[in-house]
Amino acid sequence: MRKILPYILLLAISLTACTHSKKNYRIGVSQCSNDIWRDKQNAELRMGAYFHENVELLFATADDSDERQVQQIDSLVKKGIDLLIVAPNQVATISPAIDRAYDKGIPVIVFERKTNSKKYTAYMGADNYEMGRIMGEYVATRLKGEGNVVEVMGLKGSSPAIERHNGFKTALDRYPDIHITATLQGDWTEHTAYEIMKEWLAANQGQQVDLVFGMNDRSAMGARRAILEAYHPASSGSRLPLFCGIDGLSGKDGGIQLVRDSLLDASYIYPTRGDQLISLAMDILEGKPYDKETSLMSAIVTRANANVLLMEGEEVMRQSEYVEKLHQMTTGYLKQLANQRIFILLTIFLVVLLLLLVVGMRLYHRQHVRLEQERSKLEREQLEFYTQVSHELRTPLTLVEGPLNQLAATPEMKQASKETAQLLGILRRNAAQLSLLVNKIFDAQVGRIGQNLSSEQIDKLTMSQEREQHDMMLNEPDEAEKDAKADSELPTVLVVDDNPDLRVYLRSILQTDYRILDAADGQQGMAVAKEEVPDLILSDVMMPVMNGLDFCKQLKADEVTSHIPVILVTARAMNQHQVEGYQSGADAYLTKPFVAEVLKARIANLLWQRHELRSMWEGKKVEKKKEVANDPFIRRFQAVVDERLTDSDLSVEDIASELALSRVQLYRKVKAVTGCTPVDLLRKSRLTKARQLLVESDLTVSEIAYRVGFTSPSYFTKCFKDEYGTVPGEARTQF
Ligand code: FRU
Repeated sequence: MRKILPYILLLAISLTACTHSKKNYRIGVSQCSNDIWRDKQNAELRMGAYFHENVELLFATADDSDERQVQQIDSLVKKGIDLLIVAPNQVATISPAIDRAYDKGIPVIVFERKTNSKKYTAYMGADNYEMGRIMGEYVATRLKGEGNVVEVMGLKGSSPAIERHNGFKTALDRYPDIHITATLQGDWTEHTAYEIMKEWLAANQGQQVDLVFGMNDRSAMGARRAILEAYHPASSGSRLPLFCGIDGLSGKDGGIQLVRDSLLDASYIYPTRGDQLISLAMDILEGKPYDKETSLMSAIVTRANANVLLMEGEEVMRQSEYVEKLHQMTTGYLKQLANQRIFILLTIFLVVLLLLLVVGMRLYHRQHVRLEQERSKLEREQLEFYTQVSHELRTPLTLVEGPLNQLAATPEMKQASKETAQLLGILRRNAAQLSLLVNKIFDAQVGRIGQNLSSEQIDKLTMSQEREQHDMMLNEPDEAEKDAKADSELPTVLVVDDNPDLRVYLRSILQTDYRILDAADGQQGMAVAKEEVPDLILSDVMMPVMNGLDFCKQLKADEVTSHIPVILVTARAMNQHQVEGYQSGADAYLTKPFVAEVLKARIANLLWQRHELRSMWEGKKVEKKKEVANDPFIRRFQAVVDERLTDSDLSVEDIASELALSRVQLYRKVKAVTGCTPVDLLRKSRLTKARQLLVESDLTVSEIAYRVGFTSPSYFTKCFKDEYGTVPGEARTQF
């Protein structure tokens, strides 16, 4: 997990970084005029910028006003442009603003019109002088070397106007019969050209004009409109002049179409080249090599090439529209992409957050578990310590209190002197006091630790405590057990404890009612238990070699001893140990220091319960009988008997050896589980089979007797009657 995190973060960072990998450039475009030629150029600039996703264009148009253009340039500079493209309205008036931009370190591209300053980074434009000159040559050819020409100038002080005029004049100077009748001052607009032409015509009526050269197509068309208005072919008898212009724009109402439609005689393509301008700007911005002066190529438009040029122009325009559409689609996709990127980044961010949360929680949980483990380990150690101490204290206390009580109950003590009785009283009271104190101290400690026991453990503890109370109440059957004992030998109790004094003490309080065997630890206890198969085992928990819990587990796992009730005796109030004790299969728990009577009652109880179970086998309750019959040991016994049922020689020894037990072991085990002796059980099995044969076969009673292993039919009949209360002959009809 920790290994993946850095990669996720790296991915997130790189995805974010993609958005800002290139620097964004802001290019300011200051146009002197607002007309179709500028529109075309602006469109090309925009198109050019599409190829550089990091370019932003800021347009400003001065509408032929010097003041406005100066203001606009200053304001563009203020906005923080990285480069300025400027077509200055006039040569001198705009220069200071351009110089200011340049001095601020902003690269300046002067385009198409010139300034009188050297402060510019690059210049791009067509050669206006050459354009004027070629137009002059064309006019001379067209007029066959003679005629009157009217020139409509561009804006005064703008460089193309000056240069075009010079070129035009130079060319015509070579033709003495061509006269420039008038040079009218226009300003590049159609409207002004119309006005000045109209004015001139009014002042120069009757004057023949063979050709009008407008310095741009709009001016030529303005002059044409004025001339057409004043033209009266019938009265004057004069011809209409030819009209030539410059710009040669493609598209509707552009110069090329005007030539094709014979409205203009010729035009000259004045290249806009916005795309080329952007390339130059980017080269400058990106520090690439560039030409300081770029002269744009151009060509004259006449009726001879107008059609072709128009078609080409239309084709270019169509392509431009496609590019524009493509651009719009790309912009849409890019927007989508940007949204997706934001979504991915957000998702990654959330995933990372979630992972961090999970990791944090896991770390917290691990830490918590570790602390919890440490704490419970500490508590266990504390508990063990207290258990140890308590054990050490309680055993001698039991051995002081118990014998003292016993002593007090003897007839000798009852008759003892007052002094002796007092001394004994002091001893007993103080022993009791000491026992109380030990319990209090121990309870306080264990109680504190016990608060942290699980509810399951507490439940078990409560159950065990309830069981103790219940046991006390069952003291009553004690008498019944005593009666049962009276006519047989005393039940055997095995005492297992490493403290010899305690063994002696226990023997002393139990020996009147039980045959006592003893052992010093679990291992010895196990050997004695297997050998003697006692009726009950009383065992300490904390012992060397093998402790009481392991001893108990082994007893319960061994077929010979599994049925023997076990009472574990240990230091008081060890909740956890009691739980473990019951888990190991113990039938009861007794805590030190114990009261002799309680111990006796507990033993009597358990023995009575066993007795009760056996009586059930003897026929009182069918379910319990089934339970006993299903006991794995009894089933094995039954299997051996069934196998050799006809064998009248089958002895208890034979069965014992088949079951790999001693005769004593077999006897005690069978007796403990069923209440019968093995001989009884063997006979019962033979009789059960006989009863079955009586019902299911046609064999005679004698035949059946032999078949089930009786040697004498009369003895068989006797036993059968004893068991079922009827002789076999009658039984056959009854069952
Ligand atoms: C466009 C325009 C053109 C002309 C050029 C001269 O604004 O007036 O018609 O050729 O500028 O700079």
